[in-house]
Amino acid sequence: MALHPLVKRVLLTEEQIKTRVAELAKEVTEHYKKNNIKDKDIVVVGILKGCVPFYAEFFMNFKQDVVMDFMVISSYLGGLKSNKQPKINLDLNSDIKNKHVLIVEDIVDTGHTLSFLKDYLKSRKAASVNVVTLVDKPGGRKIEFEANFIGFSIENEFVIGYGLDYDEKLRNLPYIAIMDTDKLKTWEW
Ligand code: XMP
Ligand code: MG
Repeated sequence: MALHPLVKRVLLTEEQIKTRVAELAKEVTEHYKKNNIKDKDIVVVGILKGCVPFYAEFFMNFKQDVVMDFMVISSYLGGLKSNKQPKINLDLNSDIKNKHVLIVEDIVDTGHTLSFLKDYLKSRKAASVNVVTLVDKPGGRKIEFEANFIGFSIENEFVIGYGLDYDEKLRNLPYIAIMDTDKLKTWEW
């Protein structure tokens, strides 16, 4: 398979991602079963848009009959830099009072987005708020934050593909790769 020219190095192949996501779905299912939490009390909240490929794969492997919901948070101002003050652009459709919320996120970097979101969902009286992230960049943390379930821990580099974008582009690469940011200077979209 020919790689996109803006790829510096592939970190995770489609196959590695698929295998790990199936395991993650099993881990999360076991967590809820162990705690006697019923399917009807679980709401799986994807953070658009980066979560889409991960969410789809995860949800089909998550053998529980649960509610699907989504939010849009702006935590990036485009490009490569994360923003300290996330903003809710689209809120939940469902009432999460006394529900067990599972946030599905593509990547945790500084920790600002998820820390903000967890506080917000708790303030709406969720019974519990857990986070499953496909990718974790612990080297990027600006505040303390730990996801409950992590697919892969990666180095502190800007990554693209499998939902992750550069300026809304490259989300449809079937793998996760480090971006060749030097090439951007002369790149024409
Ligand atoms: P924070 O910094 O709030 O970031 O933990 C969370 C959001 O920032 C985006 N993000 C990235 N997007 N490649 C991307 O395409 C990256 O390497 C990257 N790091 C952070 C992402 O939207 C995430 O939800
Ligand atoms: Mg995101």
